[in-house]
Amino acid sequence: MAILIKNNQEIELMREAGKIVALTHQLIEQKIRAGMTTLELDQIAEEFIRSKNSEPSFKGYNGYPASICVSINSEVVHGIPSKHRRIVEGDIVSIDIGAMYKGYHGDAARTHGVGRISDEAKHLIKITEESFYEGIKMAKAGNHLHQISETIQSYVEHNGCSVVRDLVGHGIGKDIHEEPQIPNYKPIGRGPKLQMGMVLAIEPMVNAGRYEVRVLEDDWTVVTLDKSLSAHYENTILITEDGYELLTVV
Ligand code: MF3
Ligand code: CO
Repeated sequence: MAILIKNNQEIELMREAGKIVALTHQLIEQKIRAGMTTLELDQIAEEFIRSKNSEPSFKGYNGYPASICVSINSEVVHGIPSKHRRIVEGDIVSIDIGAMYKGYHGDAARTHGVGRISDEAKHLIKITEESFYEGIKMAKAGNHLHQISETIQSYVEHNGCSVVRDLVGHGIGKDIHEEPQIPNYKPIGRGPKLQMGMVLAIEPMVNAGRYEVRVLEDDWTVVTLDKSLSAHYENTILITEDGYELLTVV
C-alpha cells in the first residue's frame, strides 16, 4: 500500500479528530495526580472522547483492552490502565490517546511528571518533547522522511539519552496505522519524499539509559531492558507546501 494523500475534506475531519485528542490531553493534564489509578484516567478520557461524537481509537485495536495507554517510569508505551495501578508522587506518566471522528483518527502522546520529580526525569521529558520539534523542522514537501528520523536521533543522543528502535511512528488517516513507518533513528536510505496532504504521527520514545526494550507478560506493556526511565511525545501532523500543521493541538 502506498502513502495516502488526504484531500481537503479529509483534512478537515482530521483537524477535528486531532482537536478532540488535544482536548482530552488537556483534561487528563488537569486531572492527573498522585493517588489516582490508571483506570480512572482511562475512564475520564473515554467518557470525554465519546461526549465529542468520537471513539477511542485504541480500544479493541489488535485486542487492546482499554481506551488509552498509560505507561509509568520504565514503561515505554502500551501500559494498560488498571484499577490496581496507582500513580505515586515522583512518577513520570506517559499518556497516549487516539480518537476517531467521522472515520478519521488523531493520535498524540504526552509525558507528565507527577509532583516533585528528579532532575534526570525532567531532563528526559524535556529532551523527548524537544526532539519532536527538532525533527519536524525537516517536515515539508520535497524533503525525505528519514531527515525527520535522523534529526530526532541526533538531538536525543547529543543530549545523553537514547531512542527506542523497536517501535516507530506512522502514517494515519482512516486507519490508526498507515504507511509509512517513521523510525526515530536513521535507517538505511532516505525514505519516501514528503508530499502535501500526507498526515503523519511522529512519536519519539526516549530512554534515559540504553535503547533496548522488552514486552511484559501481558503482551502489551513495553519496558526498558535496563529499567531506566522512558518518555514519549507524539503529535499528528499534516505536511503542507512549506512545512507542517500540528493537528493534535488545541
Ligand atoms: N499511539 C500508539 C501508536 O501510535 C497506540 C498504539 S496502542 C494500541 O501506535 F492499542 F492501539 F495498539
Ligand atoms: Co501513534
